[in-house]
Amino acid sequence: MTNRQAIGFIDSGVGGLTVVKEALKQLPNEKVIYLGDTARCPYGPRPVEQVIEFTWQMTSFLMQKNIKMLVIACNTATAVALEEIKQALPIPVVGVILPGSRAALKKTLGKQIGVIGTQVTVSSQAYSKAILTKSPHSQVIELACPKFVPIVESKEYHSPIAKMIVAETLKPLKQSGIDTLILGCTHYPLLAPLIHNYLGKEVELIDSGAETVGEVSMLLDYFEIAAPPAEQTLAHEFYATGSVSLFRDISEDWLGIEKMVIEKVTLGN
Ligand code: SIN
Repeated sequence: MTNRQAIGFIDSGVGGLTVVKEALKQLPNEKVIYLGDTARCPYGPRPVEQVIEFTWQMTSFLMQKNIKMLVIACNTATAVALEEIKQALPIPVVGVILPGSRAALKKTLGKQIGVIGTQVTVSSQAYSKAILTKSPHSQVIELACPKFVPIVESKEYHSPIAKMIVAETLKPLKQSGIDTLILGCTHYPLLAPLIHNYLGKEVELIDSGAETVGEVSMLLDYFEIAAPPAEQTLAHEFYATGSVSLFRDISEDWLGIEKMVIEKVTLGN
């Protein structure tokens, strides 16, 4: 393995780009290879076995690209497939749930933590388990927000309808007493301004994906595989299983990169 090999990021769609955005900022020497399974997004309402199968297909695709580390930049996939994939791969594998939980525990003053995520993530109780293992006296309220991912994937996250759906969905959290809310889906940071606006600035939002990059950075140092300063502009690679033009629209808007190289791929054949 050489330190110049890329870090691979997988997600059910465009959500993992919120993690990549942070990686490009914190780890500018690292080459990124990203795969979004946009054709089969969302994963959140799917049966657990199918999410595991799709996550393996994405993993195998990136392993063929000779990555040095894999980031499962999707909470749903992390919740059900991280442990299995971590055991099987010869490279470090990082998920988004533990870093998000740790960050929430650092931020909360009243130990009242909210978690929003997809149905699979919330049903797995992966966040509650991670938080309560470290801090048994914390209170965790988990809420599934199935309408959020489709808003993001259709690039509607600036629209009035998004504002309405955010308010309707988060109503149960409004008077719940939480002081910290984990965005337990990597798509949700694109809705963060609306979420903050509805819940009030006194509720701290934790971007689990962004927190994950801190862990990636630590592991690069630990395994001594951090890339040296890049001699030329890094040629990041982006792959999507669905529409390249929609992926381009969202990723250029979110990452602020122009003329991204994006290729359409097919998984599972
Ligand atoms: C989804 O595909 O439903 C959302 C991905 C995530 O949980 O981060």
